[in-house]
Amino acid sequence: MAETAPLVATQASPTTPSKRITSIIKLLAESPGLTNIPSTHTFTLNSHDQVVSDTEEPVPVIDYSLLISSSPDQRSKIIHDLRKACQYWGFFMVINHGVPERLMRSMIDACREFFDLPEEEKQEYEGKHVLDPIRCGTSFNTSVEKVFCWRDFLKLFVHPVFHSPSKPAEFSENLLEYSKRVREVARELLKGISESLGLGTNYIDKALNLEQGLQVSIANYYPPCTQPELAMGLPSHSDHGLLTILIQNGVSGLQVQHKGKWVNMNGYPNSFLVNTGDHLEILSNGKYKSVEHRAVVNKKAARISLAMAHGPSLDSVVTPAPELLDREGNAPAYIEMKYGKYLELQQSSKLDGKSCLDQVRI
Ligand code: OGA
Ligand code: NI
Repeated sequence: MAETAPLVATQASPTTPSKRITSIIKLLAESPGLTNIPSTHTFTLNSHDQVVSDTEEPVPVIDYSLLISSSPDQRSKIIHDLRKACQYWGFFMVINHGVPERLMRSMIDACREFFDLPEEEKQEYEGKHVLDPIRCGTSFNTSVEKVFCWRDFLKLFVHPVFHSPSKPAEFSENLLEYSKRVREVARELLKGISESLGLGTNYIDKALNLEQGLQVSIANYYPPCTQPELAMGLPSHSDHGLLTILIQNGVSGLQVQHKGKWVNMNGYPNSFLVNTGDHLEILSNGKYKSVEHRAVVNKKAARISLAMAHGPSLDSVVTPAPELLDREGNAPAYIEMKYGKYLELQQSSKLDGKSCLDQVRI
């Protein structure tokens, strides 16, 4: 941060070059007359990165109401759908999840209001360490990056202990309710996924102590960009946890890597966009790979997304499920590691595809 703030502040506000700024991208994007983005934010993409497809195979859709239905037939169909979605995509949409549209909309509005707060107020929440439970900033990790993302963020640990900024008004109240509802959905999906791996319904929940599981709320703000083809909202990465559940403000930008191509994920209105994370890959010994994804930006509209990441408890030591290894006669393909340690490692590094997971691969 110390390295970048003066540089960008010069662009955004020539009179106060040394002022510390947390929402760097928001200010930069709003600076009058900006036609070229600075070299600090210019990504060079290779041609492979630019291949994008909108169509071809249909994106998996999971009907949550069937997952919680009491009909065994319906449930087994959804377990089958979850297995296919995790195996072939690492991504699915969830419909009929029961979380009120009103609450989803309030949450996105609350995030927008947070990013609109005066800089001095946001600065209070600028974390010092990657595991600080309240942390706002820009890009991903400016202390190790050479090129910065077109993104400001607010990351909050919301479970097992709830943390929230006190401003804007009602942010905390909405977030408490929203995180609780989304956590229930995540745990239910993970029960289905556990079953789909041939482990008991409660296996993942128990083995990774999801009662105390870490839930992180990540609000992302991607302002419009004059040269979107040169910038990146978030470069390709996989998430550290088990499942991430994302909503957005109606502006798309999420892309998922599928069969060597980047696929735009727009999502049905009010659906959840869900992706698998590194710890599902570790637990399943590579059967359900974490999916690489990224966020691109656009010229016209600010995009706000809210990702809720669900992982094991911080003190869980995660290994490939021994029951799975025994049954299939496979050797573990990942070393064991405490989730908290992995999280720290991932958050302290540059976002670079699956490079963090590669470090625990045997
Ligand atoms: C993330 C993420 C994508 C998006 O926050 O980990 O991948 O579309 N976000 O904002
Ligand atoms: Ni992500």
